[in-house]
Amino acid sequence: MRGIILSGGSGTRLSPLTKITSKQLLPVYNKPMIYYPLNILVKAGIKEILIIVAPERAGDYLRLLGNGKDFGCKFTYEIQDKPSGLAEAFIIGENFIDNENVAMILGDNIFEDDFSEDLKSFKGGAKIFAKKVSDPERFGVVKFNEKMMAEKIVEKPKKYLSDYAVTGLYVYDSRVIEIAKNMKPSDRGELEITDVNNWYLEKNELEVAMVNGEWFDAGTFDSLLRAQNFAKEKMADKMLF
Ligand code: G1P
Repeated sequence: MRGIILSGGSGTRLSPLTKITSKQLLPVYNKPMIYYPLNILVKAGIKEILIIVAPERAGDYLRLLGNGKDFGCKFTYEIQDKPSGLAEAFIIGENFIDNENVAMILGDNIFEDDFSEDLKSFKGGAKIFAKKVSDPERFGVVKFNEKMMAEKIVEKPKKYLSDYAVTGLYVYDSRVIEIAKNMKPSDRGELEITDVNNWYLEKNELEVAMVNGEWFDAGTFDSLLRAQNFAKEKMADKMLF
């Protein structure tokens, strides 16, 4: 399985912290933010990792992470010119993914959980991970039926749908490349990962698992601060690097 860390975007919600560097390089307690998603992939045995970055920040990532040797990995870099959506990562990463399965994790998502088993046992189709939250309107949201089977997924629903957010770790087979290529941008001008997930859901090939433990999307001042405190108390001794 190949890994992608999507670490683009301009992080405007965290300005002025992000005026001179990338959101995903900001400190989360004693590590740069991107170390947390990187740990998730490496713990699951993924060694070939594509890091997708914004053009003006590419040098920062190279200086910090290099070719991956220090982490026992091989890193490849690609540029995302503008934030045109999460699903664009599979178009940018077409050659890198080749015919392999792929796990994509967002550079600003911090998970307490360990996904080694989920990633190692993945055979095909798609697998995503949901978490009950108090602010579902900030996320892609999944609605379950009485049997806890996923019924539909809606990106940032205006009207309440469910408390379950779709978190920023996604596992797909290589069909995801063609799916992304055939998609149209949403009203906010992005290729939505939610549309990819609904494609697999309609084919009955989407598995939705629950996240154990805490999860943070560290994209706002408050969630960043909460992630920092949590990282100090609960995660510092569990990191590989
Ligand atoms: C993105 C996805 C959303 C997902 C979230 C997780 O949101 O579009 O479905 O729940 O990541 O962090 P965005 O960061 O684009 O607001």
